[in-house]
Amino acid sequence: MAIQITPLPYNTNALEPVISEEALRTHYEQHYKGYVAKLNDLIPDTIYEELSLKDIVLRSGKKIQWDHEIKIFNNADQAWNHTFFWNCLTPARNMRPSDYLAQRICESFGTLKAFQEQFNLEALELFGSGWLWLVLTKNNTLEIMVGKNDENPMASGNSPIFVVDLWEHSYYLDYQSRRKEYIENIWDLVNWSFVHAELVKAEKHQPTRKSTRESIKGLPFYLRQRWVESDRTFIKRRRTCLVSGTVIGAALGGTIFFFLAALVSTQVIPLPGLISTSGNISSGFVLFFGIPLGVFLGAACGALVGIGTPMPLTPKTSH
Ligand SMILES: [Fe+2]
Repeated sequence: MAIQITPLPYNTNALEPVISEEALRTHYEQHYKGYVAKLNDLIPDTIYEELSLKDIVLRSGKKIQWDHEIKIFNNADQAWNHTFFWNCLTPARNMRPSDYLAQRICESFGTLKAFQEQFNLEALELFGSGWLWLVLTKNNTLEIMVGKNDENPMASGNSPIFVVDLWEHSYYLDYQSRRKEYIENIWDLVNWSFVHAELVKAEKHQPTRKSTRESIKGLPFYLRQRWVESDRTFIKRRRTCLVSGTVIGAALGGTIFFFLAALVSTQVIPLPGLISTSGNISSGFVLFFGIPLGVFLGAACGALVGIGTPMPLTPKTSH
């Protein structure tokens, strides 16, 4: 199964003046199509022949066994990265991130401007060729990742949501060696709708359920991160989980201990330490201490479960 060429999502002159028609046409026709063509020469009669482009990238990059696989990975990765890059750009000028995307960026970088400044800085500091990614990490945070040459964040289990091509061929015709100017101008072309969609898609594949131990361990950081944010909706939903967990836990704990007290007082469960001077179980003692203890333990457990309940991060606004 040959890997198909992905059409550009806009005309070759649509990104002018930031990226000229000549530069984009050369980039697409020569470089991108060149990677796909080389890949299609390399995969026949290999285990990669029937895989999708993304699966070829993931599989060939995981455990490279032989030189031929290095070539397959290099070309597959470049082909996939370029397709992703085309979609990160749009002729619609000066789009803004959705509220939800902006909120997620601010959680990790402080402000959108700070994110862009850091991104620009990383782009300038990248030595040689490569890609600069914004990824959703396995820890559910947004991070900038530098991919030297054809490094891809998917190889380390992170989900790319935005990328800029920093290979010289992507900007040399328009900017020569002025990478700073290229990276600063490219913000006008960012397709924030695509970035938003990729973020939401990546979040759906994020592991959302944590073990109790992980929840407790991350609680201080989690509280600090969440409660200082201005996300009232999130706080309200979290508070609801906490209150519900506490109430349900207290009710369950109290009920369980009530029945335990009943079983102890009827000596179904013998508990010698609680036998009264008359030789009978002091049910009053058990009820007096047992039920509040049950309510307390139940409430504490319920509160922990409630605050540790994975919270789906649904976008506030559809885009
Ligand atoms: Fe490129």
